[in-house]
Amino acid sequence: MSGNNRVIAIANDHGGTLLKQHLLEQLHDRPDVEILDLGVNDAESVDYPEYAKRVCRALLSGEAQCGLLICGTGLGMSMAANRYPGIRAALCHDEYTARLSRQHNDANVLVLGGRVTGSAVAAAILDVWLAEPFAGGRHQRRIEQMDA
Ligand code: RB5
Repeated sequence: MSGNNRVIAIANDHGGTLLKQHLLEQLHDRPDVEILDLGVNDAESVDYPEYAKRVCRALLSGEAQCGLLICGTGLGMSMAANRYPGIRAALCHDEYTARLSRQHNDANVLVLGGRVTGSAVAAAILDVWLAEPFAGGRHQRRIEQMDA
């Protein structure tokens, strides 16, 4: 990480490869974000828990400050990622949910479904998600309750 840049750890299974490639183009244009691409980059079938693990470990070790996971529906990746204490993975299908996942839930991983969310909608979700700050206050207390 250089300066105030955030590192975003990204991984996907074969159901998310196309959408990830689209979103990487968008992220490469952002000077404030550094990309840690943890695979996969082709259409060969792989198991999503392994890729969720890679992103979660990058966050929990401090190597990355936020994460993006993509599988076909987003369901498997969100289930797998939320097994890791300290990970708050939010499966988002719209900008409103993405905004609230940051404001209220301090989501540190955005999950998308490569087979259910179009690339333009996904790009808008990602922009909102990266921009929105955590609101803190009563939401901080609730997050602490989840971790207790
Ligand atoms: C892979 O076929 C598919 O099951 C996976 O991408 C994901 O949608 C699982 O939740």
